[in-house]
Amino acid sequence: MNHATDAGPPWSIDAARTLYNIHRWGAKYYDINDAGHVVARPLQDAGATVDITDVIEEAKGRGLKFPLLIRFQDILRHRVEALNLAFRGAITEFNYKGKYRGVFPVKVNQLREVVEEILDAGKPYEFGLEVGSKPELFAGLALQNQMGCLIICNGYKDAEFIKMAMLGIKLGKKVIMVVEKLEELWQIISISRQLGVEPLLGIRARLLSKGAGRWAESGGENAKFGLSTADLLAAAELLKAENLGHCLKLLHFHIGSQVPDILTVKKAVQEAARLYAKLHKMDFKIEFLDVGGGLGVDYDGSRSAFDSSTNYSLQEYTNDIVYYVADVCNAENVPHPDLISESGRALVAHHSVLIVEVFGAIEKIRPGEFLKYGDNEHPLVRELLDVKKNLGKLNKLEAYHDALERRDDAQHMFTLGMMDLPEKAKIEDLYWQISREVVEGYKGQPYAPEEIRKLEDSLGDQYLCNFSVFQSLLDHWALDQLFPIMPIARLNERPTHEATLVDITCDSDGQVNKFIDFRDVRDTLPLHQLNTNGNGQLEPYHLGFFLMGAYQDIMGDLHNLFGRVNEVHVFLEPDEPAGYYIEEIIEGNTIVQTLAAVQYDENELKRQMKTQMDEAIKSDRMKPSEAMRLLDDYERGLKAYTYLSF
Ligand SMILES: Cc1ncc(COP(=O)(O)O)c(C=O)c1O
Repeated sequence: MNHATDAGPPWSIDAARTLYNIHRWGAKYYDINDAGHVVARPLQDAGATVDITDVIEEAKGRGLKFPLLIRFQDILRHRVEALNLAFRGAITEFNYKGKYRGVFPVKVNQLREVVEEILDAGKPYEFGLEVGSKPELFAGLALQNQMGCLIICNGYKDAEFIKMAMLGIKLGKKVIMVVEKLEELWQIISISRQLGVEPLLGIRARLLSKGAGRWAESGGENAKFGLSTADLLAAAELLKAENLGHCLKLLHFHIGSQVPDILTVKKAVQEAARLYAKLHKMDFKIEFLDVGGGLGVDYDGSRSAFDSSTNYSLQEYTNDIVYYVADVCNAENVPHPDLISESGRALVAHHSVLIVEVFGAIEKIRPGEFLKYGDNEHPLVRELLDVKKNLGKLNKLEAYHDALERRDDAQHMFTLGMMDLPEKAKIEDLYWQISREVVEGYKGQPYAPEEIRKLEDSLGDQYLCNFSVFQSLLDHWALDQLFPIMPIARLNERPTHEATLVDITCDSDGQVNKFIDFRDVRDTLPLHQLNTNGNGQLEPYHLGFFLMGAYQDIMGDLHNLFGRVNEVHVFLEPDEPAGYYIEEIIEGNTIVQTLAAVQYDENELKRQMKTQMDEAIKSDRMKPSEAMRLLDDYERGLKAYTYLSF
């Protein structure tokens, strides 16, 4: 469908920046170059610029197919530094006496290369890890090898979990077990006595302060984890009675991920700081106050308290935490604790981009060239032709209602067998043409009725994209989380179509029909006309799904058995002619791998196919040579990528 962007001032790169809001959500990591390509600047202004189109060409040259995930490892390093420097800045500004000791919550992205990069970049800052399960603890213990480093264990724990944490303590790490419910404390005490190792303990407080946003239920009095004030006191009594009061090292809270409003953070920090101070006065010399996760990412660039945004900056977040903890501690006359934050999303969201190939479009309004209108048309067709001819003179809304009524009448007649296919096709063709003109008539007007706005959405095309929402964009499907999506090239051309995106799963939910917008949520995304080359083949058209590095990587499921996607890891390197190189390729799942995940055995599948081929040969339905060729195709196909190949 043609869109308002058809008209207006001349198109420019700046117009593209504004349309897709990249200069805001891009956080200086992403921009558009003069050639109209999206570029990455992994170190913002301090390093090389990487043209994403070049990375794609190189990946294609190395035989990789789409969808393709590009990780910019230097962005991870830059984020770790930015977080630590922001806390350090706030600590200096507010004359805070404690240190900042951040930890990366492994659940946000468990990929080994991601965790290793963060630990490496975090070495100068004694950056640690947070784990929430046994597998994460097993990985964390091995990867985090610095003496004295922090490993915070959240989540419910069993005896094995506790024993592994104790092993970490023996190895010289600060493995702090955060008690999520009172009974856990008994178990930790008893196992630590069996092993002869003093535990390092934390307590997760269930604060009354509760946030807004999609993950607000992680906080507040009905939260799944944490101790109420009464349980907190009971835990304190128990530790004293067991002479283990000195083992309580940390007070923790978590108000939910992606906190959009800074007021939530301010309130929670004050409540937690007060708890810390009161416990300190009860003679618990707690060393760490852990403010959990929640530091949000401005996915839509609106810098607002909207769910997909944040109304604060990184520096404001760190300033508020440091300021309020200092303020409460000074008033209560207790020492400033070392501060821990478990920021995950804000560290890893920016570093990865999913590149998806568009392989076709379902257009609502195609010029119906094969429909020939003559003098002897069906009365309903004639009426619609009249409406169309006189649209300039008619009231637009009335004209639309007339068209709608004729289309409904035609539908009834068709169902009753009173209309043929060519007539039905003409009615639909005219209905959409009239609708488009009606919508265009409202463009630029201060008010458009609700039904016209809905009509505009339904006029959007559907662009067919070679990916699975369930594998790569689960938070969008489950929680309506918005991600910035835009073409990665042709941005020097005005996009002329409004479209929604549909994936290749056989599921009507497998689509994206909500997009970021500066003020609201868009129902369609402005995109370019798909071009064909001289042979009638579609020219490549790629979309970038940005800020995908947090949670999406790991939560994807195997709906329709579409598996993990291909990945390339890009590193900046000043000695390289292009300023960067692709260090690592991680190949996505093959068909046989996703089948194995649901109990299919490769050899058994081949055997079953061979038996059927033999039968076909015996009964003369196939020649032996043909059967062997087809069997070869089947066996080779098993080793192929799960997505479509064009
Ligand atoms: C206990 C805990 N800490 C940290 C995080 C990470 O939060 P975020 O990604 O918002 O920083 C989470 C995620 O929900 C969490 O549950």
